[in-house]
Amino acid sequence: MKQAIEIGRFITFEGGEGSGKSTQAGILANRLARSGRSVFATREPGGSPGAEEIRAALLSGRVAPFGHLAEAVLFAVARADHIDNAIQGALQEGQWVVCDRFIDSTRAYQGATGGVPRSAINALERLTVGELSPDITFILDIPAEEGLARAEARAEGGRLDRFESQDLTNHERIRRAFLDIAEEEPDRCVVVDASQPEAMVAEDVWETVLQRLNP
Ligand SMILES: Nc1ncnc2c1ncn2[C@@H]1O[C@H](COP(=O)(O)OP(=O)(O)OP(=O)(O)O)[C@@H](O)[C@H]1O
Ligand SMILES: [Mg+2]
Repeated sequence: MKQAIEIGRFITFEGGEGSGKSTQAGILANRLARSGRSVFATREPGGSPGAEEIRAALLSGRVAPFGHLAEAVLFAVARADHIDNAIQGALQEGQWVVCDRFIDSTRAYQGATGGVPRSAINALERLTVGELSPDITFILDIPAEEGLARAEARAEGGRLDRFESQDLTNHERIRRAFLDIAEEEPDRCVVVDASQPEAMVAEDVWETVLQRLNP
């Protein structure tokens, strides 16, 4: 007899540049795997072959001349592909999906600071994400200057991408936009002090996952 498989859980990491999203998503994915969960670790933009192609165009800045709405639409196309060809399948198989950036990055970058109206952002979300919602979204909060210094140190003289290279004022607005999202959706979003050492941030994340999702 075929056994019913439990639907997996969906956890996303959000926050400004250098806040530690990739680091913390990786640590959490390892911890969940060690606790016996099957894990699909992924990222946006990207996460599926089609969406990774769109990622390259978006981060290179080639789409920027077309404006913030065009960028928002392309992020949405990438997200739809990622959901349809990767995330949904993984959740249906009972995997825990850990995603580095998701809808809130579009809300913060293209919406709140890019000037794309909330109505347009909402319409794109309805088309691409529908009823799918993360079980927990971690908002990694750090002063923009600290986050950028980390991102720049990591780039080691390499070039910052299209979004990293915006000015400091804009990065502070992005930080504020993420905090506003967390206030609007306290059931989904958990703000974590990301200026703490890596291991302490990871502890805060793990405590929340234990409390809310009992992995
Ligand atoms: N808590 C921390 N304290 C100090 N350095 C950290 C911490 N977390 C991550 N870092 C370092 O800061 C840099 C940026 O971290 P990471 O790449 O995880 O951030 P990110 O949020 O994914 O950045 P981006 O938005 O650019 O993708 C890396 O070099 C990482 O090793
Ligand atoms: Mg990253």
